[in-house]
Amino acid sequence: MAATIGIVGSGAVGRALAAHVVASGQDVVLCNSRGPATLESLVQELGPRVSALETSEVAAADLVVLAIPWPVVIPLLEQLPPWHGRILVDATAPASRLRLPESRDFGSLTSSEVVQASAAGARVVKSFCTLSAAVLALPPVTTTGRRVMFLSGDDADARTEVGALIDGIGYASVDLGGLATGSALQQPGGPLAGLDLRLERCASVE
Ligand SMILES: NC(=O)c1ccc[n+]([C@@H]2O[C@H](COP(=O)([O-])OP(=O)(O)OC[C@H]3O[C@@H](n4cnc5c(N)ncnc54)[C@H](OP(=O)(O)O)[C@@H]3O)[C@@H](O)[C@H]2O)c1
Repeated sequence: MAATIGIVGSGAVGRALAAHVVASGQDVVLCNSRGPATLESLVQELGPRVSALETSEVAAADLVVLAIPWPVVIPLLEQLPPWHGRILVDATAPASRLRLPESRDFGSLTSSEVVQASAAGARVVKSFCTLSAAVLALPPVTTTGRRVMFLSGDDADARTEVGALIDGIGYASVDLGGLATGSALQQPGGPLAGLDLRLERCASVE
């Protein structure tokens, strides 16, 4: 499991995930577009396991969650150094038709495949994007079971690692397999978008 989780974006999604990760006993570094000084009160609120850094420093973590608005995703990824196999968890959820740079032809790729194509050497896993930020901020463990969190990605080891992170913070991970199919299922307009499912506790059958 990654020692420190980097979260790029400290809005509704980033801060909800940060709270769950620190509650599970892991450290978090996070950033926004305005610099670490503007995150002082959030860092105070989330406690000593959280630090605010520059975006380039957060993006250097072993496992990085991308929680920024879609229009700034590609410009940011294209200015970051190569990922050298580090894991990039794509939590973005483009609300409408993909807005892409006119100079790039991504054909019929899902948004996460576009993220993969824009982050050289990253092992991209799509997750944390099917629940609304309001639901993400609620406890992953409920009285009726654990909230389901889907994931997909082309690298099996990365999926295993992200699945362990998801389970570790209290969700029930559900592995959808490869990036193309799993991302189409998860992204807005897909059949899993917005579904707040629970994995109920089952009594064992003797
Ligand atoms: N809201 C939802 O219900 C929901 C649910 C699932 C997935 N998503 C997806 O998750 C992503 C984040 O959504 P959100 O609701 O958390 O958005 P948000 O509340 O608007 O927060 C966006 C965050 O991204 C930061 N940011 C923007 N450009 C950046 C850059 N270049 N470097 C570092 N940080 C940057 C912003 O910093 P500043 O404040 O300094 O600009 C802000 O902290 C979006 O792609 C969205 O589609 C949203």
